[in-house]
Amino acid sequence: MRPDGALQTFIDDVESVVGGTDDEHEITKRVADLLSALLAGDYRLPPEVTRPSNDHHVNYPLYIAPDHGWCLAAVVWNVGQRTPVHGHETWGVAGIHSGSEHEFRYDKPTAADAGRPLKPAGENVWEPGQVTVCCTTDDDVHAVAAVGDVPTVGIHVYGADICAIERRSYDPATGAVTWFVSDWDTPDPGADGQATGRS
Ligand SMILES: [Fe+2]
Repeated sequence: MRPDGALQTFIDDVESVVGGTDDEHEITKRVADLLSALLAGDYRLPPEVTRPSNDHHVNYPLYIAPDHGWCLAAVVWNVGQRTPVHGHETWGVAGIHSGSEHEFRYDKPTAADAGRPLKPAGENVWEPGQVTVCCTTDDDVHAVAAVGDVPTVGIHVYGADICAIERRSYDPATGAVTWFVSDWDTPDPGADGQATGRS
C-alpha cells in the first residue's frame, strides 16, 4: 500500500523520532503523541487494510522501515476474535481507528517466575481515537479481544518488523512459553469482503 499524504507525514515524523533516540520510553511517548494527533485529525485508513478475516486477526503492513528497525501496521480483529497472551520483544504504540478493543495486561515474567501463573496487571477498553503504549521490551505482555458489534481496527507502531521477529506466547495459567513468528497479511484492493491471502 502506498501511504497517502497524512500517513506519509506520520511515517516521516516517526522516522525522525526513532532516528533521534534509543530510549524506548521517550520514543513511545512521542510516537503516542503523533498517533493521537493523526487519529484526532480524522485520518481514515483505505478500505483494503481494514478488512477482517473470519479465521484469524489480520496484520496488514502499512510501512516497514528499510532497516527493519520499526514498522507500522493495521491490525484488524473480526467481531469476537482475540489474541493469545503474547509478548512483543520490542516497544509498541497502538491507536484505535475503529471498533473497540479490550486489553488484558500481565506482568512480564522473570526467570524466577518460571512455572508460575502470570500475574494480571490490569485491563482497559480502548475506543476510537484512544492511543496506548502497549509495550516496552521490559513490559510487553498482554492479550487483546475485539468487543462490540463491528470489527476492531488498530494502527500499531512497533520497534521492529513485528512479523519478522520471534515472540513469546504464554499460557497464563501455567506461565508456559511458546515462541512464534506472526505473518503479514496481503491487502486485496479488489475484495469486497474478507481478507484473503497471507504472506
Ligand atoms: Fe499485542
